[in-house]
Amino acid sequence: MARPFYVTTPIYYVNARPHLGHAYTTIVADVATRFHAMQGSDVYFLTGTDEHGDKVVRAAKQENMTPRAYVDTISQLFRDLWPQLSINNSQFIRTTDPPHIAVVEQVLQKIYDAGDIYFAEYEGLYCFGCERFYTERELVEGKCPDHETEPEVIKESNYFFKMSRYQDWLVEHIRNTPDFIRPKRYRNEALAFLSEPLEDLCISRPKTRLKWGISLPFDNEYVTYVWFDALLNYVSALGYPDGELYQNFWPVAQHIVAKDILKPHGIYWPIMLKAAGIPLYRHLNVHGYWNVEQSKMSKSLGNVVEPLELKNIYGLDAFRFFLIRDMTFGLDSSFSEDSLVQRINSDLANDLGNLFSRVLSMVHKYCQGIVPQVEPAVEQECELGLETDAQRAIVEYERLMESFQFHNALRAVWNFISRMNKYVDVTAPWELAKKKSSRKPLEVVLYNLLEGLRIISGLIYPVMPDTAAKMQKHLGLDPQTPFYRIDQLKTWKFIKPETQLPKSTVLFPRVDPTEKKATQAAKPEISGRLSEIKPEITIEQFAKVDLRVATVVQAERIPRAKKVLKLKVDIGQNRIIVAGIAQNYTPEELVGKQVLVVANLKPAKIMGTVSHGMLVAAVDDAGPTLATVDRPVDPGTPLR
Ligand code: MSP
Repeated sequence: MARPFYVTTPIYYVNARPHLGHAYTTIVADVATRFHAMQGSDVYFLTGTDEHGDKVVRAAKQENMTPRAYVDTISQLFRDLWPQLSINNSQFIRTTDPPHIAVVEQVLQKIYDAGDIYFAEYEGLYCFGCERFYTERELVEGKCPDHETEPEVIKESNYFFKMSRYQDWLVEHIRNTPDFIRPKRYRNEALAFLSEPLEDLCISRPKTRLKWGISLPFDNEYVTYVWFDALLNYVSALGYPDGELYQNFWPVAQHIVAKDILKPHGIYWPIMLKAAGIPLYRHLNVHGYWNVEQSKMSKSLGNVVEPLELKNIYGLDAFRFFLIRDMTFGLDSSFSEDSLVQRINSDLANDLGNLFSRVLSMVHKYCQGIVPQVEPAVEQECELGLETDAQRAIVEYERLMESFQFHNALRAVWNFISRMNKYVDVTAPWELAKKKSSRKPLEVVLYNLLEGLRIISGLIYPVMPDTAAKMQKHLGLDPQTPFYRIDQLKTWKFIKPETQLPKSTVLFPRVDPTEKKATQAAKPEISGRLSEIKPEITIEQFAKVDLRVATVVQAERIPRAKKVLKLKVDIGQNRIIVAGIAQNYTPEELVGKQVLVVANLKPAKIMGTVSHGMLVAAVDDAGPTLATVDRPVDPGTPLR
């Protein structure tokens, strides 16, 4: 029976579009899955989206959408992205899926019945960004360390999960299971959290404050705290408690997360599992952040890097390779397009690409592109330990891949690539080709090089699946059969002599370092792109809106109102309009400008001034930009 392998990514919040950080975790999970499939394991890879909570409600509101329509849209962006990054997930779970909701209700009820959930009044400091209460101790200068905003004092009755009861048990478990949380620095961090008394976890939100969530099965006035709901996706996806997938895969579960969510995964989740009588996961693998100029890449900082943009410019495999090779799993890494270009040119175009085209062009030149026979009489003297080094590289690679040291695994492969390049230099096939008497050694050397390339193609497969397939095609291997299996890689002399090889190809074109484009300017996310189109109206309904061209006659600030300006505009008659554009326009630059105005809007009092109408503007993350006309027209000209 094949060994099972089960890996998960965090289920991503749908309050932002996917960026390079999300892509990294998901690519790592994909790499790990492909590697375990190479070892012959029965693999299952889960990813998905986390769709409840007030973060999502607020994001939906901002986009002018219902939470339901909003979560459907963003979840789909994640779902559509993964195949474009060659991510081969087995399932995509959404926390709004009814089977997931049923599992959350079932587990809550079980823990409630066991007496580990109680009702109490609580007053505390709540950060809306994090959707959780903070203790004074956790704040930095009175502010939430993630959002740098002051939390608000909130008093409410809620349900609490008795986490404190399990503190000693968890400390014991982490101490006795050294690779439960890895790398070690995060295990130590979890133990450090646990050296202080653990507070019970508030696991409900009153519906008066939040309706978008899973109702508590024992109190319909409350919804479930989003983390208590989300973490359960890892078992609900497998059909907990009776599903076959659950029986097969849960005992070997491994999670991958970044350090931002170590606490829920390293502390809440094991305790939830224990309280619900579910066996614990096997490993929590924690990685660092991709930073851009020292700050974590995030939507709120407006410094996100778009994975598809990099793929389109540099190619998918080069992008995947860079992410896995450049980040030491567990540590932070700084993203820069310069280092991406450098990696492509040195590791991919130079080391691997040159070796590949050098060997293949020699096989074409000296053997008409036909895989040569190996003459046993000269085999040994020409081998120079290449096979042993290949075997060593595979064993080392396996050890490193299994322990989530992906960058070192790639290093082991690149050591073998440089070993191969040296073999070419030492054996100098072009010299052997000069003499008829060295024909047999020439053929053995070329055959060995093809074999070495085959092993390299297999080892790079988890990270660069397309390049692996391309290499194997040019090595004359049948694309219909999988040759990534580790046991096949370990079998030397796998390529059949006499096979006709296709014409050579360039694996990785060099990139001109002056031509990089993707991250020159951090781009704000365009929120408007996501808004739903409003329900249809008739032409008659539209005609009721009286849109006019207006010329700004006067503009001034209103004392104590930072965001609005008071404008006198000419629409054939003078009007006062108060407009929320003070952060994007100065009064001086507005005077004389032609703008568009909704002239028949009911007057409204804004910051103490009555506004007779409204300006039309496009609004994105950078604020409003006023709509105007293409050539000057008379003030009051209607729009149709
Ligand atoms: N919804 C929760 C997770 C619930 S899991 C039961 C959540 N979502 S998230 O959208 O904020 O995703 C956080 C995860 O995205 C990180 O743990 C990491 O996997 C990935 N990353 C987001 N930004 C990242 C970087 N800048 N760098 C590396 N990974 C990053 O938390």
